Amino acid sequence: MGDRYFLIGFMGSGKTTLGKVVAEKTGYSFIDMDREIESGEGISIAQIFSKKGEKYFRQLEKECLNRIFNLKKVIVATGGGVPCFADNMEQINSNGKSIYINLTPQQLKVRLQTTDLTSRPLLSGLDDAGLLDFITDRLAERNVFYSKANFIVEGENDDIIIDKIIDIIDSEHQQQRSYF
Ligand code: S3P
Repeated sequence: MGDRYFLIGFMGSGKTTLGKVVAEKTGYSFIDMDREIESGEGISIAQIFSKKGEKYFRQLEKECLNRIFNLKKVIVATGGGVPCFADNMEQINSNGKSIYINLTPQQLKVRLQTTDLTSRPLLSGLDDAGLLDFITDRLAERNVFYSKANFIVEGENDDIIIDKIIDIIDSEHQQQRSYF
């Protein structure tokens, strides 16, 4: 079961960036759910939202998760909303280990401002103050789901968080070995 690690957290928390580094350093494969969904549909996330709606996108996320449950030795960057819909969080915890990258609204805002906000349909059109308000409100709602994670990691910078995630994976392996 510990062969699948799901990185969960708000948009901009670094699930993709950090997940790729962790996968490289641990020898796991890496999957980004948003990229999987985009390649399956042949259009961007923003286009899926605008052409087919959020409900359709959330269904695609569920189907994508179910496919991932068949893979082994994989680090998964989930989309920020994945844990918060249907029974996804319970399914994730039954089929692997979840790691919540827990950043403050201010940290998330700074990180998101270095990205193209129009690629994230929930954020496009927000100005500076609007972005912080949106993050603060939505994070408070979503923390109900994110806090169900098996592990929670925090940190001032990417390197600290990467080391913490790798420590979690290493210690899970040591525990598994000690059962034999
Ligand atoms: C979303 C997060 C996005 C993407 C979509 C919706 C969300 O992924 O799945 O725009 O509901 O939080 P990232 O967390 O990778 O930005």
